[in-house]
Amino acid sequence: MITESASGKIILFGEHAVVYGRPALAVPLSNLRARVRIEKRTAPGTIIHALDLGRALSLDSAAADEPLAAIVRLTLEKLGVPASIGLELWIESDIPLASHLGSSAAVSTAIVRALAAYFDTSLKPQDIAALVYESEKIYHGTPSGIDNTVIAYEKPIRFTTTAGAQPFHIARPFNLAIANTGVSTPTKDTVGDVRRGWEREPARYEKIFDGIATLVRAAQAALANGELEKVAELMNSNQEFLRTLEVSSPELENLLRAARNSGALGGKLSGGGRGGNVIVCVKAGESEKIREALVKAGATSVIVTIIQAR
Ligand code: MEV
Repeated sequence: MITESASGKIILFGEHAVVYGRPALAVPLSNLRARVRIEKRTAPGTIIHALDLGRALSLDSAAADEPLAAIVRLTLEKLGVPASIGLELWIESDIPLASHLGSSAAVSTAIVRALAAYFDTSLKPQDIAALVYESEKIYHGTPSGIDNTVIAYEKPIRFTTTAGAQPFHIARPFNLAIANTGVSTPTKDTVGDVRRGWEREPARYEKIFDGIATLVRAAQAALANGELEKVAELMNSNQEFLRTLEVSSPELENLLRAARNSGALGGKLSGGGRGGNVIVCVKAGESEKIREALVKAGATSVIVTIIQAR
């Protein structure tokens, strides 16, 4: 029996613009994980048990665009194992579904790692990211590749679609509150809406993406210098651009307002938007106060995590 896992993720800066070639910064959430256990099956054929979804599917009969089956098939092919192999995969995850915390990429990554380990191989992060990208396309349409990449590397990364992943430096640890609106909006929807806007008004959208790219560069420098107030200020500026892209929502704005009113340094939505989570920079010692304010404002969950220095 083999068990492997993969972390969730948070985008700190640059979502949406990253789809258009601009840089974005993302970090893994190592305490939130998807896990996959593999056992040999006596009968031929592989069964995938998605425990959180309460369903099981057979690899033989699953459709080509069933994402769990697709990542298993692709990985077996990469490992040179026939798809008729008899295995039992058990999947479970702490990462809330459709909340922009990388649950789909984490489950796929854990599947790839577990299959590789089961067959006594280890794959490089870039190979894992490439396999998982294929299943991300089924879930999300035309993803930039940032989610599967940060999860495969499990390190803070600066990502562009042209240069891929580069590690970035975080000089001082800081507290980040991640508060869920309880609204789940598929990333596919907001990415599609931004694309339609860009097709209608390319010059205006390109200018917004350039503005986001400038603040991502400033945020990378601020993180490297340990200037947390500056990081928080830049989150507020990034949120203004996301508002202009129309991917914010009353629920997200409500949580950001509540955090600000209770003393948070700054924050923004994270991921696709119109639901999912806000991230908020919190001063040391103020986590509990801000958690309470976020819950009072209607957050369905609040995770306070430390983004470690690297
Ligand atoms: C999703 O986590 C981030 C987006 O930028 C989409 C993508 O990069 O694929 C909204």
